[in-house]
Amino acid sequence: MSVSVSYDAASDRAVVTRPERVEGSPEVPPDKSIAVRSALFAAMGNGTSRLINYPGSADPQSTLSCLRQLGVDIEDDGDELLVHGRGLEGFRAPDRALDCGNSGTAMRLLCGLLAGRPFGSLLQGDASLNSRPMERIALPLREMGARVHLTSGHPPIRIDGGSELHGIMYRLPVPSAQVKSCILLAGLQAEGRTTVVETSPSRDHTERMLGLATIEKDSERHVLVEQGMEIPARTWTVPCDFSAASFFMVAGALARSGLLRMERVGLNPSRSALLGVLQAMGAQIEVSNETSHGGEPVGDLLVRPSELSGVRVDGRLIPILIDEIPVLAVAAAQAEGRTEIRDARELRVKETDRIRAMVDNLRLLGARVEEFDDGLAVEGPVSLRGAEVRSYDDHRIAMAMGVAGLSADEETVIEGASCAAVSFPRFWETLADVAS
Ligand code: S3P
Repeated sequence: MSVSVSYDAASDRAVVTRPERVEGSPEVPPDKSIAVRSALFAAMGNGTSRLINYPGSADPQSTLSCLRQLGVDIEDDGDELLVHGRGLEGFRAPDRALDCGNSGTAMRLLCGLLAGRPFGSLLQGDASLNSRPMERIALPLREMGARVHLTSGHPPIRIDGGSELHGIMYRLPVPSAQVKSCILLAGLQAEGRTTVVETSPSRDHTERMLGLATIEKDSERHVLVEQGMEIPARTWTVPCDFSAASFFMVAGALARSGLLRMERVGLNPSRSALLGVLQAMGAQIEVSNETSHGGEPVGDLLVRPSELSGVRVDGRLIPILIDEIPVLAVAAAQAEGRTEIRDARELRVKETDRIRAMVDNLRLLGARVEEFDDGLAVEGPVSLRGAEVRSYDDHRIAMAMGVAGLSADEETVIEGASCAAVSFPRFWETLADVAS
């Protein structure tokens, strides 16, 4: 069997060539969005919570180290985590800056938590996180009475302790589950009621996990939280990550032959719109064994080689497939006709500018791509040819380009490939296992 995918740690490069088949059962890691929340909510709860299937990927691990610094006792016995929550009152002042690594979710949610604590804190991240916009959380938190100081709109973020927070009604100017969750966590500590209004709903893990009231009103969604709501200790089982599975959904659909099977993948509708979009493009993806796992819908996926055609993706679809757009652009390069993705300006402020990164990388492989301020258009199908591309230190760009390399003639080299570990530590081995 010839090797189609390899990773070299010394140069931090992955090399990918086109395989004959893409076949097998890739092991999809646990969901980082849900994992980060499960750790935070367990820490805020009263009593010991069990976290089952907690991922070893970088972002969830950064979350644990921040919580430990805040005095939360977390035991890891290899199979599960035991988080000894003592309620928000049990958090203690950190003795140094909280390092959120690459995790925007950890940082933005922690800011909501810390905004109402009696002690001050400082939060920072890696170079990518330190360049991401934070006014979007600072504005509503200040409106609630918190004292939040940014560094030119970015982290490091200093939060002064001891503010009395009060509830607000806040209409999100950009659809963002991180901003929504930040405000809701501050709302738990704010006098009265806090309502977050979404005009274009984003992923709803926080609402589901905390059992918050939501009201659908004139195509808007209102999420409500009351001060002092109790968070009981419980067992959280983290489902497999839809976003991680999406790379294999596209790899399987673009393959010349083979069959991919993935089990118990998270299928929360506020998160998994890529599935319907790929099916509308012609991807043969079957869903079976739909059930619920830790309060989240999950199902098995069977992916077959498919003929794809172009599609337009915009408006309310964007927030519910935002993380899957890089790999959707890869599928588009092999689809018949034009695929246009618009209203996705938010991609420019992710771990990197994902519009720029995908436009540049796909062009290097020979794809026909047009760049817009708020998205991109791809004309397919095109015979891609291997080239050297960059991850831009963004896990989803690295993985999307790995999938692109499977459809290209000759070698595709992905520089800075190890960043996949932010959400998918064994990505390159898993891709190698199925591509032969
Ligand atoms: C996330 C929300 C999204 C997403 C990110 C995870 C979350 O970000 O891109 O990967 O866990 O809430 P935004 O809320 O900034 O859109």
